[in-house]
Amino acid sequence: MTKTLAFFLVASCIVLLAARSIASAADMPTSRVSFDKAWLFARFGPMPDGTVKEEPWGLESVDVHDSLWRVLDVPHDWGIEGPFRQDLSSSTGKLPWAGIGWYRKHFRVEAGEKGRRYFVDFDGAMAHAKIWLNGDYIGEWPYGYASFRLELTPRIAFGRENILAVRLENPMSSSRWYPGSGIYRNVWLVTTPAVHVAHRGVTVTSVVEANGNASLRVRTEIDNQDTARSDVTAAVEIIDCTNGAVVLRLAERKVAIAPGTTAEAVTEGSLASPRLWDVDSPRLYAARTTLRGGGGVLDTATVVFGIRTAVFTADSGFELNGRRVRINGVCNHHDLGPLGSAVNRSALMRQIRILREMGCNAIRTSHNPPAPELLDLCDSMGMLVLDEAFDCWIQGKTPNDYSTLYQAWHERDIRSFVRRDRNHPCVIAWSAGNEVWEQNNDAVIRQLRAIFKSEDPTRPVTSACNYRGAGFDGFQDAVDVFGYNYQYDSYARFRDSNRTKPIFGTETSSCVSTYGEYFFPVSDDKSQGFRNMQVSSYDLYAPPWAHIPDVEFEGLDRNPFVAGEFVWTGFDYLGEPTPYGEDVYPSRSSYFGIVDLCGFRKDRFYLYQARWRPDFPMAHILPHWNWPDRIGAVTPVHVYTSGDEAELFLNGRSLGRKVKEAYHYRLRWDDVKYEPGELKVVAYRNGKRWAEETMVTTGPAQSVQLTVDRTVIAADGADLAYVTARIVDAGGRMVPTAFDTVKFTLAGPGSLAATGNGDPTDHGSFQSSSCRAFHGQCLLIVRPAEGKPGIITVRAASGHLTTGALTITTHP
Ligand code: GAL
Repeated sequence: MTKTLAFFLVASCIVLLAARSIASAADMPTSRVSFDKAWLFARFGPMPDGTVKEEPWGLESVDVHDSLWRVLDVPHDWGIEGPFRQDLSSSTGKLPWAGIGWYRKHFRVEAGEKGRRYFVDFDGAMAHAKIWLNGDYIGEWPYGYASFRLELTPRIAFGRENILAVRLENPMSSSRWYPGSGIYRNVWLVTTPAVHVAHRGVTVTSVVEANGNASLRVRTEIDNQDTARSDVTAAVEIIDCTNGAVVLRLAERKVAIAPGTTAEAVTEGSLASPRLWDVDSPRLYAARTTLRGGGGVLDTATVVFGIRTAVFTADSGFELNGRRVRINGVCNHHDLGPLGSAVNRSALMRQIRILREMGCNAIRTSHNPPAPELLDLCDSMGMLVLDEAFDCWIQGKTPNDYSTLYQAWHERDIRSFVRRDRNHPCVIAWSAGNEVWEQNNDAVIRQLRAIFKSEDPTRPVTSACNYRGAGFDGFQDAVDVFGYNYQYDSYARFRDSNRTKPIFGTETSSCVSTYGEYFFPVSDDKSQGFRNMQVSSYDLYAPPWAHIPDVEFEGLDRNPFVAGEFVWTGFDYLGEPTPYGEDVYPSRSSYFGIVDLCGFRKDRFYLYQARWRPDFPMAHILPHWNWPDRIGAVTPVHVYTSGDEAELFLNGRSLGRKVKEAYHYRLRWDDVKYEPGELKVVAYRNGKRWAEETMVTTGPAQSVQLTVDRTVIAADGADLAYVTARIVDAGGRMVPTAFDTVKFTLAGPGSLAATGNGDPTDHGSFQSSSCRAFHGQCLLIVRPAEGKPGIITVRAASGHLTTGALTITTHP
């Protein structure tokens, strides 16, 4: 079964299981409907053009004339709309995200709905959300990465129009990277009967017994928001998500719940020979809780979970289901490149597919709680997750970051985060923080760990440390698994001092490169690869605290007790364009990604693939072979291969066969003299031919060639197709020196979601239909029209080149 199919089975599992037949509206079980459509939006404070617009008083009031406000659907990120501005901070993407945004939503609640409880769930609103219903203040949640619920019931106007008003403010200097701004995740309207399963109230835990059976424990918290005591029976069925079959019914529990209180029903059982969740077979189950009382069904709730053992040990590193699995992970920020921070399931799915192709099996959600969709996808696609809460605690890193909220909010934020994510089998550990200033003592981490543990005693807690001393001064004793950032040369010493403490590399490498750029002469000095605001792609360059991938590989191989690594980063992200981080540079996105901002694989992708997929026959050559000005000049060739030796041929002549020595992770021919033609590598493993790759000098650019990641997508307004435009020669080979501007046009039921290229210095709008190819390629993201299945035709024209075209089918 494909991962996509598995994912849709899980989604439909939840939908099917939620449907019940009920007598009156008030008695219906909990329902959750999307609240994403038709918001009204207005912006104040610093504006995109650099002016400042005063925020009027009273925008929460019902009388506001909002009919001229912009109508939009969320998820929405107002920052990504641009424009890029040279005067804005490079570290946060040179985009005008800072400011104030108001969202208003008009909705009706029918008189017949009285008796139910109403809630609004925000998966994430950036930032400092304050919310009013019909002019009355109902609550706030400042941390922009938190998911939160507010109750609407007391202020709902039945049989009339209601107005929900949301004020967001994202101040300057609130982040070290591009945060995005707005209601950038999904919003849900949740209605429940008066006695109902509490928000995030179902917790499933499992223990795999020696005989292969699983002991399950399902704890259901039940809220009684009625005026009378409620006697409830809770029954739990366990469902196999691959086929919807009920595989176990747990014993029923009776609970009496006083009005205005919450009670708990705990039920247990043993599931014979469950199929375990694993990275290559992410089997999922669901627990469906049914509450009965007064002769009928009161409420139902379904949560998806997986059964697996996940243990960190001091010797073997990490064991999943009893077998050692090296963590081949990446850190990622939350933005989705040209789409900004507005969450999109299909964009996340594409990222995970690309990472899996590389052999990546883990994601660290640096440095904040992710969108819930990311965890659903990791569950169904078999990705491990290090789920992280914060980038700072008491002492901040930028003037308006989480440190301003820490004292008042950290406990609520952690509890709500853990309660949201603790049923996900993909989550293998909690990270309380990243490179916090409070690494030099254990006082804060001890308090935070206790909060995590009180909500989830089953998972280890860590916090990523860049301070070497944290592994020796006591901090390490306060975490369950110790995480080092960039300290590969301290692994051995850590083990000598901490015999029983598991350890992993929570952040590693931070190599930098730009797709398609190569600078000569090639230097092994990590500070020598920077020119013209780009970084050479020989994968030899890194900022002072960082290392090339090979150095970390050696650190891990010499210290096999380390559970693995999370590379900084899987994907390029908006902001933090080290080494061009100063505002005078135009750079607006990172150079750290193994994959660029548009999802194009940089050379480094293949260095990791060679290591992380050792049984996948592959070889990759760099640099490209279009160097008309270098004829006769030394042009080193590096080869990344999962083989153990390789022979390089230039125009049919052997340039020698090289063997990977111990702790060498690439093969190098450092004195190749450039001549145009064909460069070919033949890789061997154990003396047998294993893989080959050819790099050819291309002819001149002749046409634009289009390819798409998926030719059939859903006509749901949210699914996305990623179209790559390549400038190719007469033989269909991409011309790596082409920078032509491509003009996209679309016909049929679809529209342009974004365009982009992998150039970190490009200030072209992500919403423009014209995009400059960068080293031969650029990207168009197509959004299907909702409810209008049909054929979308994409055309890509560029000057005298032959226009490229393709079609995408959207299905109902
Ligand atoms: C780390 C930090 C990351 C990122 C990275 C760049 O120290 O945790 O957020 O800034 O450096 O190398």
